[in-house]
Amino acid sequence: MAYYRQVGEVPAKRHTALRDASGALRYEELMGEEGFTSDSSLLYHSGVPSAIVDSQVWELPDQSTTPNHPLKPRHLRLHGLFEDSASSTTPAGGTIRPDGGRNAIEHRRLVLGNGDVRISYVLAEATSPYYRNAVGDECVYVERGSGTVETVFGVLGYRTGDYVLVPRATTHRWLPSGPSALYAIEANSHITPPKRYLSRFGQLLEHSPYSERDLHGLGEPFTVEGSDVEVLVKHRGNGPLGLVGTRMCYATHPFDVVGWDGCLYPYTFNVEDFMPITGKVHQPPPVHQVFEGYNFVVCNFVPRKVDYHPQSIPVPYYHSNVDSDEVMFYVGGDYEARKGSGINLGSVSVHPGGYAHGPQPSAVEASIGVEYFEELAVMVDTFRPLELGEAGLAAEDPAYAWTWAGRGPDAVGDGDGGPALYSNS
Ligand SMILES: [Fe+2]
Repeated sequence: MAYYRQVGEVPAKRHTALRDASGALRYEELMGEEGFTSDSSLLYHSGVPSAIVDSQVWELPDQSTTPNHPLKPRHLRLHGLFEDSASSTTPAGGTIRPDGGRNAIEHRRLVLGNGDVRISYVLAEATSPYYRNAVGDECVYVERGSGTVETVFGVLGYRTGDYVLVPRATTHRWLPSGPSALYAIEANSHITPPKRYLSRFGQLLEHSPYSERDLHGLGEPFTVEGSDVEVLVKHRGNGPLGLVGTRMCYATHPFDVVGWDGCLYPYTFNVEDFMPITGKVHQPPPVHQVFEGYNFVVCNFVPRKVDYHPQSIPVPYYHSNVDSDEVMFYVGGDYEARKGSGINLGSVSVHPGGYAHGPQPSAVEASIGVEYFEELAVMVDTFRPLELGEAGLAAEDPAYAWTWAGRGPDAVGDGDGGPALYSNS
C-alpha cells in the first residue's frame, strides 16, 4: 500500500530518540517487506520487541492435503463443518481451551491448499490467542459476524462482508462479538490490490473498482502493558505445505506501541464498497478482481446490472481457464434455482485446470434478457493446482461432478437444477 498513515506518537525525524515522560527511550521497530526495498512502517515500543523468554512447539491444525485425483469438479459444503456450533465446547476442528469456545486461529480447518495459498474456514466465537503468520499475508473474508481484531498497529472493527487484510508477521488476535464465520485466505506472499489498478506511485486509479476511501481501520494506537505474553507463530518449516508452528513468550506485551507511521499496516475493505464493472456483453472474471497474491487472485461477484446488448448471454460461456484452478465461495444471493446441482449459500465449487466448466445447461437460454444478478460470491483462482485439506474432504458433496450430464458414479437428480443465473459457475 502506498497510502501513508501516521497514528499516535512518532518523532519528527525517523531513527531519532523518542522518550516517554520519565525520559526513557522508546524502542523503534521497522517492519518492512522485500528486504527493505518495499513498503514498511516504523513502530515505537515501550519495551524491547525482541525480548522473548520462552519458545516451544505449537502443533498447527491439520495441514495435510489430498490431491484432486482422479480429476473432477468438486462441491464442498462449508456450513456443515461446524453444525455442532450450538455447543461451544465441542472440539470440532481442534482442541477447545478451557476458557472458551472455538477461536479464529486454532480452529481454522483447512479446505484447500497448495504451495502458494491456503483456504481455511472457521466458525469462531471465542477470543483467539495472540498470533502472527510469518509465512505470508492473510486475507480473511467475514462471511458472517462482527467483532474486533486487535493488532500491534491498533484495533480494526470487522463486520459481515469485510475482507480483513493482515500483513505477514503482524501480531494480532480476533475477538468476535458473536459467532463469526471466517473464510481465511493465507498466502505465502503479499496480498495487494491488482497492480493494474495502481499508479506508478501506488495510488488507486480512476478505473479501479474501489479507492483508498474504502480502506478502514486503525484510528488510534493500541497501547497495552503486560509481561510474559504468549504469541503463536506460524512460520516456514518442514511440516505439511512447508508450515510449522512455534509458541513464543514475550517479556513485555507486543502491543506496547505508542505510535507508528508508514505504508504497511492491516486494514479492512467491505465487499459492498466494490463498484462492479459491467458491459454491453459478458465481462470476463478479471473485472471482478479485488486482490492478488503470488500465483493467485481474489475476485468478488457482487449484485449488479448485467449485459445490455439485446441478445447478450449474461451467464458465462463454457470456459477452459487453462492455467488455473477456480474456487467460488457462495456467500449471498438466491441460489434456489440451482438446487439440482446442490450449490447454495455456504457452498464452495472447485473447477480445476484441465476441465472446461460453465452453467447448468438450461441457464444459457434462461439468462437472455435478464438485467440484474443478485449474487455475492468470493473467488480464488490459483495458478498451481489445489489439493483438498481435511475440511475439504469432510465437506464434499460427491454428486456435484455429474450434475451437468445427469449421470455418473454418485449422480442424483436429472443433471440440471434449472437456470443458474450467476456469473461464473
Ligand atoms: Fe469459471
